[in-house]
Amino acid sequence: MTDADDGSGILDTTKPHPARMYDYYLNGKDHYPVDAAAAQQVLSFYPQGRLAAQANRRFMNRAVRLLAQHGVKQFLDIGTGIPTEPNLHQIAQGIVPGARVVYVDNDPIVLRHAEALLSSGPEGRTEYVQADVRSPDVILRGARNVLDFDEPIALSLVALLHFVSDEHDPRGLVRSLLDPLPSGSHLVLSHGTADLDPEAMERVMEVYRNNGVMAQLRSEAEVATFFDGLELLEPGLRLVDDWHPEAASTAAGGTPLYVGVGRKV
Ligand SMILES: C[S@@+](CC[C@H](N)C(=O)[O-])C[C@H]1O[C@@H](n2cnc3c(N)ncnc32)[C@H](O)[C@@H]1O
Repeated sequence: MTDADDGSGILDTTKPHPARMYDYYLNGKDHYPVDAAAAQQVLSFYPQGRLAAQANRRFMNRAVRLLAQHGVKQFLDIGTGIPTEPNLHQIAQGIVPGARVVYVDNDPIVLRHAEALLSSGPEGRTEYVQADVRSPDVILRGARNVLDFDEPIALSLVALLHFVSDEHDPRGLVRSLLDPLPSGSHLVLSHGTADLDPEAMERVMEVYRNNGVMAQLRSEAEVATFFDGLELLEPGLRLVDDWHPEAASTAAGGTPLYVGVGRKV
């Protein structure tokens, strides 16, 4: 495990954190009363929040399976969250036993539970790097210890970038992370939007912001720019319920998350 933290290593249980609120939506056990209270406030404005979290998780699952089936063996997952089964390496190694996965998150509670992320199968490898997506150099340094940068790598930023406001140049960060990856690498992305229900989503964002969590939803056109220079795999950038939908596990529909997978050519 690499503690490449850039100063945020203290577990603060007095204010809500996105990873722990997300754990609450997913019916996990790794959150504090303050997280549950903020998450309940969000659910009062957006009762489908739990379904949205599940739909997001299933997108990660579908995208990783698809890439592993196409021979991708290396994954750099930033904004991993508190371990939730199946974790990314379990999905990838279920298809490619030798798959290598580097997990990254800036929340100390994820570090605390990282053991579950390090349960790699014997043929593969997993590593955890505690770092902030706004420090791509730290992340890339940690990733180079485990991943072969001459072979394709899937960069997954799932439900992460809506926690990075424009003042931190999220597009520049994505470019810095993709630039060193060879062709045949991929970007797996999901991102919250207010396109479907601006009023409800604005109230949801206010809960996060009032609790000191920076958050910025983006329109379809804005999310599309994260894929600039990449070739979008079928079916393109879609709302999560429309991206390779699986009849048996589709949410109620209208989940306000754009998702897509782009390929570096
Ligand atoms: C909504 S959760 C998504 C978890 C997982 N990717 C998934 O989709 O199931 C967002 C995660 O991003 C992490 N995060 C938020 N801002 C971050 C940052 N600046 N750097 C690294 N991780 C961050 C949070 O700690 C949290 O674990």
